[in-house]
Amino acid sequence: MESRPWDNGTRVVHAALAITVLAELSTGLIVSQATRPHWLVIHSILGIATTLVIIVDWMWTWARRDFPILFPWNRVGMRVVGREAVQVFQGKLPGSGDSTGLSSFMHGIGLLAVSGMAITGLLMYMEIPGGYGLYLHSSAYAFFTMLATTHLYLSYVVWAYLIGHVFFAALQQVLGHNVLRHFYLGHR
Ligand code: HEM
Ligand code: HEM
Repeated sequence: MESRPWDNGTRVVHAALAITVLAELSTGLIVSQATRPHWLVIHSILGIATTLVIIVDWMWTWARRDFPILFPWNRVGMRVVGREAVQVFQGKLPGSGDSTGLSSFMHGIGLLAVSGMAITGLLMYMEIPGGYGLYLHSSAYAFFTMLATTHLYLSYVVWAYLIGHVFFAALQQVLGHNVLRHFYLGHR
């Protein structure tokens, strides 16, 4: 499938996304220990910055008319994704770049996962001033628990996505497709 060159806007937005999500994943690890409460404040403030970056990413994706590439959820698109997925098991890497295929499909899943983290995180954050959920009505407490559980499980999805994403980027690079140069160093 023919791939469009990456533009500088996508590179900048992606770099901001990678930095903020990595910061959230690391501070999230500390928060989950529940021994240093001030890290929850740091995580939440950074979380608001991350949410802004995610919103800009959605707007940029829309401006570039990239929705059909990141979300090829129709018969024609899924046929391409399915074919590339089968080829992975035959030792052929999926195509890289801004085109319909398995890689872009996975990028769309990654964007949805981090957006889910932002929504659940923000909703929890809005409940905290009311007493960390505990002094609220019991139904609000149940809602908080549901948000916290979803936030935790989604963080596993984001970790899995990140590991797979970096692994495949490194593999493409080693096999000579030079994705890092195309994506980061402005080479078209
Ligand atoms: C990609 C973005 C994010 C990632 C990867 C992330 C990751 C995590 C992780 C791993 C935890 C620990 C979960 C646990 O052990 O129960 C956590 C907790 C938390 N996060 Fe996030 N987070 C993100 C965004 C946000 C945002 C945007 C906010 C709010 C502005 C936020 C607020 C919170 C809060 C309040 C908790 C504590 C939940 C509890 O007490 O169980 N997070 N986050
Ligand atoms: C969790 C953090 C990350 C997320 C959510 C993420 C998400 C994405 C998305 C959505 C794209 C498609 C470009 C677009 O339409 O915006 C992409 C491309 C790319 N990402 Fe990430 N990314 C993350 C971290 C990283 C890291 C740490 C690396 C470093 C190796 C990386 C390397 C790349 C490369 C090389 C491409 C271009 C792939 C190609 O040409 O096919 N990403 N990423």
